[in-house]
Amino acid sequence: MSEKQFKRTLVTSALPYANGPVHIGHLAGVYVPADIYVRYLRLQGKPVLFVGGSDEHGVPVTIRARKEGITTQQVVDRYHNLIKDSFEQFGISFDVYSRTTSAVHHKLASDFFRKLYDDGKFIQQTTEQFYDEETKEFLTDRNIRGECPHCHSQGAYGDQCEKCGRTLSPDELINPYNAVNGNPLTKRATTHWYLPLDQYQQWLEQWILEEHKEWRPNVYGQCKSWLDGGLRPRAVTRDLNWGIPVPVEGAEGKVLYVWFDAPIGYISNTKELCDAQPGKFGKWETWWKDESTRLIHFIGKDNIVFHCIVFPSMLKAEGSYILPDNVPSNEFLNLEGDKISTSRNWAVWLNEYLDDFPGKQDVLRYVLTANAPETKDNDFTWADFQARNNNELVAIYGNFVNRALVLTHKYFEGKVPAQGVLTDYDNATINEFRDIKLRLEQLLDQFRFRDAQKEAMNLARIGNKYLADTEPWKLAKTDMQRTATILNLALQIAANLSIAFEPFLPFSSEKLRNMLNLTNADWNRLGNTDLLAESATVNEPSLLFEKIDDSAIQAQLDRLARIKKENEAAAWQAPQVKAPTCIEEFDKTDIRVGTVLECTKVKKSDKLLQFKIDDGMGGRTILSGIAQSYPDPQELVGKQVLFIANFPPRKMMGIESQGMILSAVNADGKLVVTTVSKPVRNGVQVG
Ligand code: MF3
Ligand code: ZN
Repeated sequence: MSEKQFKRTLVTSALPYANGPVHIGHLAGVYVPADIYVRYLRLQGKPVLFVGGSDEHGVPVTIRARKEGITTQQVVDRYHNLIKDSFEQFGISFDVYSRTTSAVHHKLASDFFRKLYDDGKFIQQTTEQFYDEETKEFLTDRNIRGECPHCHSQGAYGDQCEKCGRTLSPDELINPYNAVNGNPLTKRATTHWYLPLDQYQQWLEQWILEEHKEWRPNVYGQCKSWLDGGLRPRAVTRDLNWGIPVPVEGAEGKVLYVWFDAPIGYISNTKELCDAQPGKFGKWETWWKDESTRLIHFIGKDNIVFHCIVFPSMLKAEGSYILPDNVPSNEFLNLEGDKISTSRNWAVWLNEYLDDFPGKQDVLRYVLTANAPETKDNDFTWADFQARNNNELVAIYGNFVNRALVLTHKYFEGKVPAQGVLTDYDNATINEFRDIKLRLEQLLDQFRFRDAQKEAMNLARIGNKYLADTEPWKLAKTDMQRTATILNLALQIAANLSIAFEPFLPFSSEKLRNMLNLTNADWNRLGNTDLLAESATVNEPSLLFEKIDDSAIQAQLDRLARIKKENEAAAWQAPQVKAPTCIEEFDKTDIRVGTVLECTKVKKSDKLLQFKIDDGMGGRTILSGIAQSYPDPQELVGKQVLFIANFPPRKMMGIESQGMILSAVNADGKLVVTTVSKPVRNGVQVG
């Protein structure tokens, strides 16, 4: 915590790309922690604004559009709405969730650029960039693919190799080509504007390395290594036809780089909200330009450099904005031991989770916080999800609340019984949670959400143990007064739980408050034992949490196993676009003709067909991932097909495949097996 006195807090969470749904990694890394923090500040009665939105520019959305055969606008509309809806469902309590295609944002980002331009804050540079002579366009980043210079896998992107994970620049790629059409690329001169980050180096070193030593070690460390490496000017414009036009004469066909406009989206979205309801939220400038505002960015670790180095430099260059006070960034969450990946569908999508586990938002929130990757990468497993639900939420929290309420109804007609003389044991129990407010505050102020949630659960453990040790159901037969005291204290603990869990599990807290007839969570009274008045009525309990059985978990594991197999089969298909090649390269591939003797579905696979081929060389078996395109595989029997004869044999679903059958995609997205136009001898080479 910094020493400064702040009057209000502005919390932002990274704007997700509107090129796909959001998954548990997003939720765990950014949105749940941000939401916990904001709910906590609101409970304390502190002025806070929580800003979110979709990041709708950049190359990935345009690629998605081309893949799906729809316009880029349609892509961002679809995913913006889907993402916004998922966040709402999970109780991520944004004050505003807007988008970077909004008119407000286009204007603000454009004006921001123009001010820096007019103030001479950019340098202009003409460089040689990759160019497609046929389509007459410059290509950048993800529109360029080629061989990775590090791991030599094919199809690495101009900004990153997805195989080995290394960051790349297009110039490093071996044999770069246009990712869309496979055209080889030439180089052409083009002019762009750069933010000379090197000029901010010294200032950043002072501001981060000296003045923000309290930042999380992972954040501080990443900043330090960037700074130690020496900063270089960064282009803030691109040759692209999707984005915010560069507001400079002669810059036609150029747009602001997505990482220039997106963080400005935090400002635009604040402005949009404040302008719409000035009475409620005040002026947007108060949130962004007043030194007494504390700015906090919640992000994932791949965003650190942009939020700690690039965006602050932009704000500094502009001159009238405040800078972030902290950037609590998380590491990554893996899924069942593997990196979450959108392209490989290796994720738990929030919209699908809600279909499979309706009403169980808090369970996922709980598990993700319990495993939050705050200091290192962490793993989500379905077994752990089930265990935490059944053994913690149900067996401890839910069970305690349920027992307290059931017994109150059984012995005291649903009225809070009177508190009599407290025993030493009662006092010892109370002492265990008397300072829970302080403990939670210390942890939450330091963004230690995982430990904070543990404290809340610990209170439920205290309650559970108290009932187990005092056994009021036995005492009720002999000592009603003592029973009353015990249940009074148990109910007070339940009331405390509804407050302590409010930032973490808002849905269950509300449900619990409804059972206890509490109208609101009063943070200031957390730790007290008079939250419920004597004789106040409490309602019949309903279950706060329900057991999740093995079959529900098995269904999720089966789904992941299926995806894994599909990915293996997909990796077996030819790449869609190949790098430019030469005849020697082509000659290395042994393509031949063979007749399909048998063609059947592979059991337990949606994708694979098993071919028996007369290859003129004694016959071979080939597996091909085209089952969905050939519901009736019999139709292929007797056809002469083209296949690659010199692929190393490979086992899938326990069957060895000796080659690859060539097929093409038709307009419906179905795979069509290639054949010859007149009969030829089996085994003959194609070339
Ligand atoms: N869209 C980016 C991502 O998902 C995050 C943008 S954060 C912002 O990695 F600050 F630029 F908005
Ligand atoms: Zn690589």
